Amino acid sequence: MKVYIYDDIETASQAALNYYQEALADGPKVFGLATGSTPEKLYQEIVASDLDFTDSLSFNLDEYVGLEASHPQSYNYFMHKHLFNEKPFKHNYLLNGANPNEEEECSHFEDLLQEHPIDLQLLGIGRNGHIGFNEPGSSFTSKTRKIELTESTIEANSRLFDSPSDVPTAAYSMGIGSILNSKNILLLAFGEEKAAAVKAMVEGPVTEEVPASALQEHPNVVVILDQAAASQLSGEANA
Ligand code: GLP
Repeated sequence: MKVYIYDDIETASQAALNYYQEALADGPKVFGLATGSTPEKLYQEIVASDLDFTDSLSFNLDEYVGLEASHPQSYNYFMHKHLFNEKPFKHNYLLNGANPNEEEECSHFEDLLQEHPIDLQLLGIGRNGHIGFNEPGSSFTSKTRKIELTESTIEANSRLFDSPSDVPTAAYSMGIGSILNSKNILLLAFGEEKAAAVKAMVEGPVTEEVPASALQEHPNVVVILDQAAASQLSGEANA
C-alpha cells in the first residue's frame, strides 16, 4: 500500500487525475467508479481534462436498494450528473437498485465483472472503514450482494436526504472479494472524520472489522489523502 499525502483536496484530486491519464495512455480500460463527496473534485478534474473514455467501460461499486435510477439520491443519478453526462463511456455498468430480485441483479453484475476485470478501481472510505457498502464483518471473499446498512452509515449518508428515515436501509454492493480482483486500486480519503478509519486501514491489523484493511493484502494499492485524513497516521508516507 503506497500512501501519498497532499495539502488539500484540490492538489490530491489533481494527483489522482494522473492515474487516469496513465491508465488511458496505452488504450481503453475498465474503470471501477465510486460515489460520495470524496471523488467529486476528481470527477470535475476528469470532466475538465481531454481524457477520452469513449472506448472504456465503467462499473459502479454500489447502489441503494429501492431507489430508481432517476431518484436524485441514487448513485446512478450522481454518476450521470458528475461524470457520465460530460464524459461518455462505451458502456456504464451500474447496479439497478430498483430490481427487487437480489440474486438476479447481483449475480448478473458479478458475471459482468468476471468478463471485464477492472483495471483501476476508485474507492472512498466510510467513517467505520467500509469500502463500497461492505460494512464491518463483511467477508474478504464476499461478492456482489445485498447489504443491510449500519446505523452509522445511514446517519453519515442522511446529510444528502431530507431526513434520516428517507435513507434506504440496504444497498447492493460489489463485495470485498470483487474489489480485490481489480488490478489496481486508488483510494481517496479527505477530512478529519476519516482519520481514524484511514489509520485502521493503513496501520491496523487486517481484520474483517475494518473492511478497508483487506487492501493491505492487495499488491497495487495507492492511497491519496489530504493532511486532515492523514492526521492520525504514525508511519512515514511515501511522499
Ligand atoms: C458511502 C459509499 C462509499 C463511500 C463512502 C464515503 O456510503 N457507499 O462508496 O466511499 O460512503 O462517502 P463520502 O465520500 O461522501 O464521505
